Amino acid sequence: MKTLLIVFHSMTGGTEQMAQAAFRGACTQAGVNVRLLRARDAAASDVLEADAYVFATPENLAAIAGQMKDFFDRSYYGALDQIGGRAYGLLVCAGSDGQNAVRQVERICTGWRLKRVVEPLIVCTHAQTPEAILAPKHIGAADLERCEAIGTGIAAGLALGIY
Ligand SMILES: Cc1cc2nc3c(=O)[nH]c(=O)nc-3n(C[C@H](O)[C@H](O)[C@H](O)COP(=O)(O)O)c2cc1C
Repeated sequence: MKTLLIVFHSMTGGTEQMAQAAFRGACTQAGVNVRLLRARDAAASDVLEADAYVFATPENLAAIAGQMKDFFDRSYYGALDQIGGRAYGLLVCAGSDGQNAVRQVERICTGWRLKRVVEPLIVCTHAQTPEAILAPKHIGAADLERCEAIGTGIAAGLALGIY
């Protein structure tokens, strides 16, 4: 059975809702084992055991969240040269930008020789003030549907043997 690994970090809940939506979408596909792991709980062994990936991160200080960076730092060399060609998708939750987080993850995934099979999805919460940035986030239904579709699509590709 093929495995889709979804790795995420979230401080105020936005990215978590996006990752959970991708998980829900992926779980609609029979014959695919879908794993949803927090970045702090994920390691190179989880990366090696999976056949495709969804990475989901906030953009913090024009970068991926520290715990996502820590996950990549801990797992990068343990998986290097062993996962080339596998499919991935990327979800970014941002206040107003998100582009640098996309660039960072894409560089890491290029190093891993992964294959991007869907456009990265950036969801902006439009939080600007410190109060709004630190408040719990609510991701709208339309954006969650996009996340679900990414999970469904990658899992379907695995189920059909395309990835
Ligand atoms: C310390 C910090 C720095 C941030 N820097 C950025 C940034 O550079 N660009 C941006 O678009 N949003 C930025 N944000 C906003 C977050 O991306 C936004 O609140 C998002 O919802 C966080 O995801 P989460 O709800 O999963 O924690 C920042 C938030 C924090 C707490």
